[in-house]
Amino acid sequence: MSPAPRLASCFLLSFFLASGLFLRGDSSLFSNDLISDTCSDCSESNPNVDYGFCVASFESYPQSDQADDLTELGRISIYILMENVTGTRDFVNGILENESLDHYVQGCLEDCSELYSDSIPTLADAAEAYDEGRYKDANIYLSSVMDASSTCEEGFAEKEGTGNSPMEKRNDNVFSLGAISLSIMSELRRRRLPNQEATSY
Ligand SMILES: *[C@@H]1O[C@H](CO)[C@@H](O)[C@H](O)[C@H]1NC(C)=O
Ligand SMILES: *[C@@H]1O[C@H](CO)[C@@H](O)[C@H](O)[C@H]1NC(C)=O
Repeated sequence: MSPAPRLASCFLLSFFLASGLFLRGDSSLFSNDLISDTCSDCSESNPNVDYGFCVASFESYPQSDQADDLTELGRISIYILMENVTGTRDFVNGILENESLDHYVQGCLEDCSELYSDSIPTLADAAEAYDEGRYKDANIYLSSVMDASSTCEEGFAEKEGTGNSPMEKRNDNVFSLGAISLSIMSELRRRRLPNQEATSY
């Protein structure tokens, strides 16, 4: 290719990219930026939210793409957490089938199993409160599920020599997913009270 046409195609390409950027604002031809904008805001306002983790979590759940406002995305974040908690409970129960577990570890895993089993109905309550706009209640339920993940993890740390917690990664996931939901709800509360400072909850 001689320099002139190459330059021309370069120009055309930039023109195309630039018009794409303009179109993004109001065209459904381009996937919306709700996920990345939300994850960016959440990671800035809440140190427990990691931007990459947040985007990857929503992207792993196909309905996220169809969410067209923050309220819907927040509801999806609770569903993702619910699946994660259910999967985590199944995972613990799977390990507990091993009959040659260290006695102490077995006790910890039994506690985790109970904590996660109890978290499932708590999350159903959280989803219901969320749908009714009772964000303060939803916040309490979600926080207790996050606490359950921490309590599960702490059990393993209480005794020296028990080795790495087999639950660490899953506990971290549950905690981080909960933080995303909490962070979305605090943004929704801010929007609901445009003339007030965020209140105590
Ligand atoms: C829990 O969420 C994390 C982060 O999105 C994901 O990597 C993991 O596969 C999920 N686990 C289950 C059981 O849903
Ligand atoms: C069962 O637990 C023991 C002790 O932790 C471990 O060595 C073994 O690999 C486990 N077996 C299975 C099938 O996971």
